[in-house]
Amino acid sequence: MFTVRKLKRAGLVTGAALALAVTFTLFNSNEVCADNHADRNTDMKSLGRAMRALGAAVAAGNTADAEAAAKKISAIASEVPELFNGGKPGKSRAKPEIWTNFADFTAKANAMKAKADGVAADAAAGKLSSDPKAVVGKIGATCGACHKVYRGPKV
Ligand code: HEC
Repeated sequence: MFTVRKLKRAGLVTGAALALAVTFTLFNSNEVCADNHADRNTDMKSLGRAMRALGAAVAAGNTADAEAAAKKISAIASEVPELFNGGKPGKSRAKPEIWTNFADFTAKANAMKAKADGVAADAAAGKLSSDPKAVVGKIGATCGACHKVYRGPKV
């Protein structure tokens, strides 16, 4: 029986998919993102939750739930640039490069949205892979791509 925990262990042990491992680290992070921006925080945490829900839905073969989770990720992705538009709050892992490369930052949020939309469309069309790792990893790679460049070390 698949569990997210097992999946996490597999991801970390094999080290096969770095982006995936990064994503699973996020999943388990209870840490409140250290900034004052409540909405930004809430949305990033919702992303983590939606990714978990997506993995669980795919594992259970529940395409309706998988589609809903992917749509949720897509909706949050649309809000990300706006959330960061206000600038850097006092304590935050957001790197200053976000605001010098805002177009690229926005492109990375759009890439996440595109992948989430793709997963939602596949689910709706009954074409979704039954491998939770593959499905979650598709979107997870876009989380990692942005974090790698624009998220600094823990503060
Ligand atoms: C366009 C860039 C971008 C994308 C895409 C992105 N994030 Fe983030 N994320 C950030 C930044 C920047 C921070 C740090 C925010 C801060 O500290 O103010 C962050 C913080 C977080 C946090 C807060 C906790 C921590 O350890 O920092 C979580 C959880 C998180 N992201 C999950 C995700 C997940 C899951 C995805 C993909 C579904 C994702 N993010 C996609 C930029 C992004």
